[in-house]
Amino acid sequence: MGKLSDALDRYQSERAVKAQMLRPETNHSRDMIIHHAFDPKLVVLTAPESIEAENFKILKGQIFFPKDGPRPRTIMITSAFPGEGKSFVAANLAASIAQGVNEYALLVDCDFRRPRIHKILGCSNKEGLQQYLTGKKALQELLIKTRIDKLSVLTAGIPSFKPSELLASSMMEELFEEFKERYDDRYVIVDTAPSHVISEVNILAKYVDGVIFVVMAGKTPREIIHKSIEALGKEKVLGIIFNGYQKAYKSYDRYYKNYYKKG
Ligand SMILES: Nc1ncnc2c1ncn2[C@@H]1O[C@H](COP(=O)(O)OP(=O)(O)O)[C@@H](O)[C@H]1O
Ligand SMILES: [Mg+2]
Repeated sequence: MGKLSDALDRYQSERAVKAQMLRPETNHSRDMIIHHAFDPKLVVLTAPESIEAENFKILKGQIFFPKDGPRPRTIMITSAFPGEGKSFVAANLAASIAQGVNEYALLVDCDFRRPRIHKILGCSNKEGLQQYLTGKKALQELLIKTRIDKLSVLTAGIPSFKPSELLASSMMEELFEEFKERYDDRYVIVDTAPSHVISEVNILAKYVDGVIFVVMAGKTPREIIHKSIEALGKEKVLGIIFNGYQKAYKSYDRYYKNYYKKG
């Protein structure tokens, strides 16, 4: 996912110039509507011609047509550390799947400490997965239909109990069983906390069909990558994404400390 950010910046500045040339009353091209409706980081929608969007199509193809074994339906996105692009990948992969002709996607935010999915998709985080796990709400009441056709979201929800204990709870295992039984027509994409920081993420890996591991290209230490993959279970890891987006890394130290503080 090399020069993802460069392509995005270029695309957006080109589009800004185009937008200025349009008179206000003619500002109803499809491009403009999409631009205002979605978070610009949802590149598969806002910059469909970019290299990044193309990379998500390739990733989707690899999920739909695995080299061997059945198609993974429940897929978790994780990485060793915060700020490596997990939420970016999870949201774009889910949106990319939902853009297909027949496929439905459900995007689940399991990062209780730094939930992001509701922000990217522009929905409320008042109630979500944590309300399900604490028995306050049924799953159907918590699923949100997004403005993207065929994409639903289960946000993290406001914390009401110790996040790490919820992640490892038996309710979580039941949830994934329910996904497989009731929502077997959907791909379930799960955004998580960093697995090297929050060890319960490794338990979560047992409940999904496969794991995609995000690496900050040239930054995540090799040894940590190996250790993290071992802890998640090698057989579960579908592949590694090398994210070349360097801006994300700047915030790394601060977030890393914050995770520990709240843990
Ligand atoms: N490839 C990328 N292109 C553009 N922005 C990115 C990319 N990867 C990450 N980002 C941005 O970097 C920041 C951190 O990424 P995020 O997905 O929230 O990390 P994580 O979920 O691993 O903590 C976010 O603002 C995100 O939008
Ligand atoms: Mg995140």
